[in-house]
Amino acid sequence: MRAADGPVVLAACGVSKRFGALVANEAVDFDVRAGEVHALIGENGAGKSTLMSLLYGLMHPDSGTIAVDGRAVRFSSCVDAMKAGIGMVFQHFLLVERFSVAQNVMLGREPGRRGMLDRRSSEKEVARLATGYGFALNPATPVEDLGVGARQQVELLKVLERNARVLILDEPTAALSPQEASALFDIVHRLRSEGRAVILIAHKLKEVLSVADRITVLRRGKVVGSVEPEQADEAQLGLMMVGRSIDLDKRVPRIGAPADVALRITSLDVPASSGAGLHGFSLQARAGEIVGIAGVEGNGQIELAEALYGLREPTAGAIALEGRDITSMSCANRRRLGVRYVPPDRQREGLVLDFSTEENALLGDQRRLRRGSVIPAKTMRRRADAIAREYALAGYSPSVKARDYSGGNQQRLIVGRELSEGAALLLVCAPTRGLDVGAAAVIRERLRAARDAGACILLVSYDLDELRALADRIIVLCGGVATGELTPENADDATLGMLMGGIAA
Ligand SMILES: Nc1ncnc2c1ncn2[C@@H]1O[C@H](COP(=O)(O)OP(=O)(O)O)[C@@H](O)[C@H]1O
Ligand SMILES: [Mg+2]
Repeated sequence: MRAADGPVVLAACGVSKRFGALVANEAVDFDVRAGEVHALIGENGAGKSTLMSLLYGLMHPDSGTIAVDGRAVRFSSCVDAMKAGIGMVFQHFLLVERFSVAQNVMLGREPGRRGMLDRRSSEKEVARLATGYGFALNPATPVEDLGVGARQQVELLKVLERNARVLILDEPTAALSPQEASALFDIVHRLRSEGRAVILIAHKLKEVLSVADRITVLRRGKVVGSVEPEQADEAQLGLMMVGRSIDLDKRVPRIGAPADVALRITSLDVPASSGAGLHGFSLQARAGEIVGIAGVEGNGQIELAEALYGLREPTAGAIALEGRDITSMSCANRRRLGVRYVPPDRQREGLVLDFSTEENALLGDQRRLRRGSVIPAKTMRRRADAIAREYALAGYSPSVKARDYSGGNQQRLIVGRELSEGAALLLVCAPTRGLDVGAAAVIRERLRAARDAGACILLVSYDLDELRALADRIIVLCGGVATGELTPENADDATLGMLMGGIAA
């Protein structure tokens, strides 16, 4: 049975919240029942996180009430919310890097006093909890050594250790690989079957439809409607979210035939960074085509992109761009030849969060654009203005810090910058991961336009729908080796899955 008929445990009743002139939530009704997964969806900036902050006691509504078990409450902080059995996993993890898994989980509630014994007993307790949920976590590992998926499990353990009845998951899948996301959904189902209430904010409509019992759509601070997944489909939800219809995963064939070979990679070996490294990889790609690189995260994709951009030195093999050997060329010189990069981690590699929009719009090209020792103010302003206009950057002003944009707008800024002068070779990693459909549609449309304008694009993506929608052909990597090549038409999940697992299709 899907539809939950447990009692409503947490509710927002007619809540409104303003930030100055901006109405982030307007008369919102939202509740969640015991044993239910209630998904909340909406574009970036729709007010989802604001609503969660109200439910979790981080902010007070300007009007309306929050109720727990049918009784109005007024949380003075999230400590009160936690006491009421509400736990939240945030969009950006709040873990202490140098602390171990166990220390993070037990933070603020170590059993007993300090010392060896306490460490041992808290590690034992955390190990018990982790094993119960099937998490392969060693309680003694420092969090800084963990990947995103594991970090999220630590965040979940923090909440579960307090035995929360209501779990709020704010975009938990944004940074996860499809495999990690599906593992998370298994956990979500498990939590539901334990009778807990789960509020899930997510962007991928397919995921939402498969995991939720009820889906509520927020647009510009207001509830557009609630549906049950059996009565809804992706197209309808997309329409509710943005107010117009978007078919994100529709294939748009390229205009014209691809031209000459632009990129020639020959027997490339690249040492491993976070992944498997690259072993004897060869590829020829043409101007005017998008070559998709599929694979489970960590199978050499990032090493490939970094070697092509000049961030990681190959130990063997050669890279030629338009007939020119660039194997050991510096990044700056590659940029001069039109090599551009959209890195997988927008916040850490793509932007300097504390720099202004103008400054970020120039990153990577500072030296080249300098006249004397400074970059002319007009050059800076012009570039930022153009990106803002073309990519509909919400909340734009030249001086706004990159940190203050939503994820979707940060990515618009990066892609806008990388494409602002055209590109000969564009390396793109997970370009729409975690973005709402509106932002994802803009990014995809721009990538296609760049291809049609003659760029050679290498698209590393963990989203199979995205690969099929964008790529003209798809190469699969497993263990740093190409295990196959498919056309988007032949790239069904089963075939891709086999190649991704290293089994010849
Ligand atoms: N603390 C804040 N101060 C000012 N504006 C905010 C604050 N938090 C959110 N906003 C604004 O409120 C709107 C809704 O934001 P948010 O709830 O984070 O949306 P979502 O989570 O759906 O992306 C956005 O326009 C955002 O810029
Ligand atoms: Mg949010």
